[in-house]
Amino acid sequence: MLLVFVLILRDIVQKTVPKTHRKWYTISERQDYVMKTIMENMRGGIDEAGIRRAGEILKRGGLVAFPTETVYGLGGNALDPEASARIYSAKGRPSDNPLIVHIADWEAIERITVDLPHTAKLLADAFWPGPLTMVLKKSDAVPLATTGGLNTVAVRMPSDAVARALIRAGGGYVAAPSANTSGRPSPTTAQHVAEDMDGRIDMIIDGGDVTIGLESTIVDLTEGTPTILRPGYINEEMLAQVVGTVGIDRALISDDSSVRPKAPGMKYRHYAPRAPLIIVEGEETRVRSKINELAAEARLAGRTAGVIGTDESLDCYHSGVVKSIGTRRDEITIARHLYSILREFDEMDVSVIYSESFETPQMGQAIMNRLIKAAGHQIINV
Ligand code: TXA
Ligand code: MG
Repeated sequence: MLLVFVLILRDIVQKTVPKTHRKWYTISERQDYVMKTIMENMRGGIDEAGIRRAGEILKRGGLVAFPTETVYGLGGNALDPEASARIYSAKGRPSDNPLIVHIADWEAIERITVDLPHTAKLLADAFWPGPLTMVLKKSDAVPLATTGGLNTVAVRMPSDAVARALIRAGGGYVAAPSANTSGRPSPTTAQHVAEDMDGRIDMIIDGGDVTIGLESTIVDLTEGTPTILRPGYINEEMLAQVVGTVGIDRALISDDSSVRPKAPGMKYRHYAPRAPLIIVEGEETRVRSKINELAAEARLAGRTAGVIGTDESLDCYHSGVVKSIGTRRDEITIARHLYSILREFDEMDVSVIYSESFETPQMGQAIMNRLIKAAGHQIINV
């Protein structure tokens, strides 16, 4: 009864109030997001019936969060501008920040791109399915709502089997940013997704913990030399072995914040924990004593500091809430725990977080790139 009344009222308003004055109407549209979010458990592997249900949701324009090998994605039909608009709204993300289109089969790339360079096939043969995203010229099939108004499209084929089954079931093209609220650390478990998205999306597929923990490497293939726009697990050397010379977006290496990154998302302050995060950099023993000194100062001032150390340094810290991010002997453990440790500190009452810095030859700049962003560039050199 109430619903009928609301619908009639909405109809009257739509006919009588000019569009520009319909502010409350936007709010009522947001009400659509107070929905029941289904949690599908696929920790043990693909559940065919669940994948079919998820595919149906995508085909009718709904949103499904799903696991990938990098981080959890928030998926919608990439060829449906309304689905893309829903993704931006659920994340609270600025709509000039383009989405990555996920595919499950190489042949799918033809429909969404034009002038495909031969380097794309070489890189796909080497790294797909896997944690690499390629920026290519887009075809008319991809709405500007998905690419944030750009004429290029970012494409990735994830290696996670659940992800690829979902993409096929949903029609072959799934736009998916990381499934976090804009500005929060990316989710590496289904629980993280639920923290940010429960009640805002139709379904979350729980595929357990991700394996890599940092977003894919993005490489731009639209202008001459392939150029890294976002560092990730696939590093510069690996790319260079396949395509020869590789460039790096100047904004990634420049200290000058006025240099505009080519991946629009890289300009936003991302992955920010609630408490200020400060990185302490330098020789190992000096870093440890500086962090001890700072944590002790915080305690004297009646505050609690969080400390991010490693398995190797954990016992060296004497005050504050000390957590290990992983072991320096296996850098992938550091990548995998970075975002979850930032979320754990968000749950605790710490007023500041001090972190060691991490040399990671395999992941190159990927880990420090994310940590420095989370710290808003606050670094102490000792
Ligand atoms: O690992 C990943 O890539 C994850 C999983 C879910 O696949 N996705 C992800 O999406 O990290 P998102 O939306 O959080 O980050 C996408 C990044 C942004 O920095 C965006 O600006 C950039 O990709 N991007 C997307 N399309 C682009 C384009 N056409 N040109 C340049 N940058 C683009
Ligand atoms: Mg993201």
